[in-house]
Amino acid sequence: MEFSIKSGSPEKQRSACVVVGVFEPRKLTLAAELLDNAAHNHISDIVRRGDMEGKAGSTLLLHNVPGTLCDRVLLVGLGKEKEFGDKEFGDAIRSAVKTLNETGAFDGTVFLTETSVRKRTCAWRVRQAAIVAQETVYRFDQFKSKKDKVRRPLRKLTFIVDRRNELAAAEEALKQGQAIAEGMSLAKDLGNLPPNVCNPAHLAETARELANEHKIDCQIIERDEMAELGMHSLLAVARGSHQPPKLIVLHYRGGKADDKPVVLVGKGITFDTGGISLKPAPEMDEMKYDMCGAASVIGTIKAAALLKLPLNLTVIVPASENMPGGSATRPGDIVTSMSGQTIEILNTDAEGRLILCDALTFADRFAPEVLIDIATLTGACVIALGHVASGLYANNDGLARELLHAGDEAHDRAWQMPLWNDYQEALKSPFADMANVGNRAGGSITAACFLARFTKKHSWAHLDIAGTAWKSGVDKGATGRPVSLLVHYLLKRLGLLS
Ligand code: BES
Ligand code: MN
Ligand code: ZN
Repeated sequence: MEFSIKSGSPEKQRSACVVVGVFEPRKLTLAAELLDNAAHNHISDIVRRGDMEGKAGSTLLLHNVPGTLCDRVLLVGLGKEKEFGDKEFGDAIRSAVKTLNETGAFDGTVFLTETSVRKRTCAWRVRQAAIVAQETVYRFDQFKSKKDKVRRPLRKLTFIVDRRNELAAAEEALKQGQAIAEGMSLAKDLGNLPPNVCNPAHLAETARELANEHKIDCQIIERDEMAELGMHSLLAVARGSHQPPKLIVLHYRGGKADDKPVVLVGKGITFDTGGISLKPAPEMDEMKYDMCGAASVIGTIKAAALLKLPLNLTVIVPASENMPGGSATRPGDIVTSMSGQTIEILNTDAEGRLILCDALTFADRFAPEVLIDIATLTGACVIALGHVASGLYANNDGLARELLHAGDEAHDRAWQMPLWNDYQEALKSPFADMANVGNRAGGSITAACFLARFTKKHSWAHLDIAGTAWKSGVDKGATGRPVSLLVHYLLKRLGLLS
């Protein structure tokens, strides 16, 4: 979809559809009022008759509104004005775009971006509107032989800002929103692809193509070289699969040559059966999403490259399947990780931490300024935080604060969990330096504690996205999270968020 920014009054817009908001109960926003004045109370009459109460999620499409230059007017219910916050703004854009897409209108001029949202700037509204609009029209139908074609799809959206002096900041925010949306869309596609297509080689190929299209360097490390590097923990996970593992390394160099990079590590298990510690059958198909950490860091580097961000960013993806088989790792096996620490693998289903620990050790060589891993790591995190917030762990309070803030700004929120040493007890092994699992208690925390043993040298954070990376049920699909959080974090670091 195409986007643009404009300022102007609603009655003067030559557009297939002008979109304005109505608060509950029956309170016209400024733009709706201007239209109403031009239309000699046409809109307020309709509202008074009870056809638009302003309830959140409601819409009303009007044709031939007198005194205007547009073909249609779409009224969007915004809910109570006092309660109009981040979520409500997003919901309003979503219902506007969904409705526009179902009408004959090819373009829309959206005044909702003029409406103030608590604590948020005009730039925020525009950035968020672009992200949500793209999200609303996202489809994954490449495997459908008959696609549900939208008859007259929405092609162009214009967001209105109320003051001309906000235009420049809004243009910038629009570009940021579009880049974030592109990164999210790539992350969603990778997540949604079936596991027979999106295997480690496919992830590596996608990374290579992305690197070729942008100013990104790409290196793929194969099994032999992993063995030379001593990555026996990662290799242990790959043993059961016929698909060879890949370690994908991407460098985006937008900063000065000697700027230390931000390093992002994404869990890339392209299918998690659990291995010999086999998972139960119900919903096992959803374990194709176990590479969503990888997808999110690839999406993030794409957004960074599109925005030509002035920083150095390195992305590392350990990619593997976790399968049972004659050569698969057994519960009780002991392996030596690249760090030299030995691990007793008591449960082969706790494979994420096994591939991540070697990738995190490998990250040492890039001297990260900060090191952040993103992983669909534990079912326990879903129990703790549900599908709203990602679990955040960090060995540095400043980094934790910045990531929490970025998540809040992006409406892609995270919630901090403890990393106290007391929890390390659970990982004791009688035979090796550590076990790969604790008991059931605090499962998301002990997983993070495991990773913490490999990241002591750095300012490090871990995002457990098991509950947020995809949706189950009728709306099954990848969410593209936490691309938006991560890009907001980068933008904020660079002082580019307004
Ligand atoms: N990929 C899963 C985590 C997961 C499970 C994410 C369900 C989303 C939904 C991970 O590899 C895993 O299997 N973790 C185990 C760890 C346990 C064996 C300590 C889990 O959470 O059950
Ligand atoms: Mn697992
Ligand atoms: Zn897994």
